[in-house]
Amino acid sequence: MLEGKEGFAVKKSMEILVALGEIFGAESLIEVGSVQVAGVSYHNLGDAGLEFLDELAKDGRVKVLTTLNPAGMDLEDWQQLGISPEFAEKQYLVIKAFERMGILVSCTCTPYLIGNLPLFGEHLAWSESSAVTFANSVIGAKTNREGGPSALAAAFVGKTPCYGLHLDENRVPEIHVRVKANLAKLSDWGALGYAIGKKAENKIPYITGIKKADLDELKSFCASVVTYGAKPLFYIKGITPASEQQNQPKESLTIEAADIKNAYDNINDQVTDIELVCVGCPHCSIKEISEITELIKGKKVAAGTEFWVATSRSAKQLADKRGYTSVIEAAGGKFACDTCMAVAPLKGRFKSLATTSAKGCFYSRQNLMKTKMGSMEECVEAAVTGKWNS
Ligand code: F3S
Repeated sequence: MLEGKEGFAVKKSMEILVALGEIFGAESLIEVGSVQVAGVSYHNLGDAGLEFLDELAKDGRVKVLTTLNPAGMDLEDWQQLGISPEFAEKQYLVIKAFERMGILVSCTCTPYLIGNLPLFGEHLAWSESSAVTFANSVIGAKTNREGGPSALAAAFVGKTPCYGLHLDENRVPEIHVRVKANLAKLSDWGALGYAIGKKAENKIPYITGIKKADLDELKSFCASVVTYGAKPLFYIKGITPASEQQNQPKESLTIEAADIKNAYDNINDQVTDIELVCVGCPHCSIKEISEITELIKGKKVAAGTEFWVATSRSAKQLADKRGYTSVIEAAGGKFACDTCMAVAPLKGRFKSLATTSAKGCFYSRQNLMKTKMGSMEECVEAAVTGKWNS
């Protein structure tokens, strides 16, 4: 492969994988069950990235199931999100290059909800940080947090260097986190992720004190904890599958109600008028879309405010069938499929954002927005009134 016997893309890929393996001291390559590629938005790739992908697409074909992270726009309804035709043209070229490689154009950070669902213990090469954390922690699969090029390289070769979180010795929890705070709403999980990410720093947490969690809460926590400082792996006693096989670490810390409040204080800015409400970070599940439908039924999004529901194309298709889409759109809401508030070209378009997501706030600040984080109810209320009231 390195000599180029399987073509240009495989040769380039092997060069990347060998270099990575040497840097991290990997002794071998290991087969991966699937790949998830980030670096899909033309906003982040630019022309240089597009050229690189075009070169690889000449002879590169993926060897395993490979899905994509969100792109810079809704691939069908980009006009309604205010995307320019020039951007759309370039984004389509990016998507076409990925298609030629044999990649499934399912642009989502929740690949595990749309058919790229790994098994416990399976090795992967995924790149989006919340998906990597979900795969490692909630599913018990094994993946490092790949960059876009190294994930693509693994897709062309079908293997990745065996180091880091592929090795059991690197998956041992390092700090015991006692949660003594009540988690009452979805955004509290984002606040918890902030608190643990900051306090546990780059250690693998073994979390106790949480009695129940649903899928949406866990995916929200995964996005937040890794954004604010933790490794993309955690254990929650009694909830995540590998937690019973691990010992409680000696080093410990406690998360109390004051830590959750402190997280909100740090994530939220001083702002009342809300220009964009965006929910679905990570991408909304069909259950979340049904909750939004109930909350917004019969109401109207305020003039001067946009309400976006970010989700995968597959979840939107289910929403279409169930009638959720027509209710949300009748209220003035918009679906933002295939994309998200972090990778769409939003800088300068909106001055303020309300969301359920701590990670969404982190990236929206980089897009120069003032941010508010709260429950789904508070976000829908903000969409309808144009104001953040709490
Ligand atoms: Fe997904 Fe974008 Fe949030 S990739 S986790 S919706 S910042």
